Amino acid sequence: MLGNDDWWRDAVVYQVYPRSFADANGDGMGDLPGVRSRLGYLSELGVDAIWLSPFYTSPMADGGYDVSDYRDVDPMFGNLADFDALIEDAHALGIRVIVDVVPNHSSDRHPWFQAGLRDRYIFRDRPNDWESIFGGSAWTQVADGQWYLHLFAPEQPDLNWDHPEVRAEFRDILRFWLDRGVDGFRIDVAHGMVKAAGLPDVGPKEGRQAEMLGDEQLPYFDQDGVHDIYREWRPILDSYPGGRMAVAEAWVSSAERLARYIGPDELHQAFNFEFMMADFHAKSFRAVIEKSLAEAELVGAPTTWVLSNHDKPRHVTRHGGLARARAATLLMLSLPGSAYLYNGEELGLPEVLDLPDELRQDPAFRRIGESRDGCRVPIPWTSAPGCGWQDPWLPIPGSWAELSAEAQQDDPGSTLNLYRAALAARRSHPALGGGALTWLDSPGDVLALERSSGDGDTLAVVLNAGDEPVTLGELGLSGEVLLSSGPLPEDGSVPPDTAIWLQPR
Ligand code: NOJ
Repeated sequence: MLGNDDWWRDAVVYQVYPRSFADANGDGMGDLPGVRSRLGYLSELGVDAIWLSPFYTSPMADGGYDVSDYRDVDPMFGNLADFDALIEDAHALGIRVIVDVVPNHSSDRHPWFQAGLRDRYIFRDRPNDWESIFGGSAWTQVADGQWYLHLFAPEQPDLNWDHPEVRAEFRDILRFWLDRGVDGFRIDVAHGMVKAAGLPDVGPKEGRQAEMLGDEQLPYFDQDGVHDIYREWRPILDSYPGGRMAVAEAWVSSAERLARYIGPDELHQAFNFEFMMADFHAKSFRAVIEKSLAEAELVGAPTTWVLSNHDKPRHVTRHGGLARARAATLLMLSLPGSAYLYNGEELGLPEVLDLPDELRQDPAFRRIGESRDGCRVPIPWTSAPGCGWQDPWLPIPGSWAELSAEAQQDDPGSTLNLYRAALAARRSHPALGGGALTWLDSPGDVLALERSSGDGDTLAVVLNAGDEPVTLGELGLSGEVLLSSGPLPEDGSVPPDTAIWLQPR
């Protein structure tokens, strides 16, 4: 039932952050049986795949991105039998499963680090000037005076990818999960594993090094040698049936650099974070979309789109309200390529801004005062007090009872039903998913585009990011509104902060 090796090209992939998604055993922490119990919800939502953020054995110094056993499930999330049952049920519903792989660093509790196998990590007699992404030096000193590199928290020592056993280990880890039936991998810090020879200093710079990413290539990111690793990995993926894929989390300095990760001998996709970073303006969206599509054409693979994930403030808050978030979502889901959704965005959840400091768990918080906890608050399932959770690991705002899946289930105007309708239309409309995009003339802060299948089917998309309503007449458009992100007045205009999908006449 899961034919089509190219499924990922226009897939809608739903990111599950396991701690926060659904809790089956009532310990306040989401788990794999919880995910399994909600597969019906995901199927009704209409996603093609789920991506599970790490559920591996971990001391949770960085929410599971600090793995101490890459081949097992942390007891907090269940066990391998739970994973097998989840994947079996997901596949039976036609939902594919992507898992995270975290190759840049392990946990400091990993048996290699514990056994003092220093050649598998990056130990030096003296630190250089590299900074951790979470703030402070990227080096920590151990008892005998040596220092080890950690681009993230000290509990996340960087692995030494010059060591053949590190390479062999990860090839084996990929096979372990492929053998269990996973359909793909999301590669964490995919631009980080190889460091510039000799570990040269970055040199004096204004501000934090991490903030330079986007303008400059740092000696610890996006080194050419990283591509050799993906050229080793691709034949492994290709040796399994059914279109196993990999998507890179690679923060690099340009769309051109990002495109180098994609291709028939490397990875299938890379996250296009530029769309996530775009402002809510027609010009910003258009610039990013044009650039992304041009790059995608160069490498012959469709781009990806993402508005929210577990590392960035939710787009309801980033874009300034639910109306804008819904409009941006409708734009995203109309674009050619695949779209990644983050659990809870289909409920229109905002970022939780007022979490008490003592409850924040992001390791960056204690170092630089930045915290990603606000987008990791558990998902409200029911309208009852507690929203279906007992003592959740982060408190759920009382007001979220109204945003719960239960509260939105039968409300035709709810965000949940907007996502369901958009995903259903995306599946059934021939001009969506793949196909071409043509820009239409539009005044001011309005974006108008046409999608076409190549076989005569078309769909027009309008996003009004301005302050004034725009009429379809002004845009030279007419037809039937298939979907709108917000209420439309009788006069046929599209109000501010609203997007529509229009079946042209
Ligand atoms: C990127 C992940 O998305 C983030 O959550 C994590 O903290 C870092 N990589 C380090 O693994």
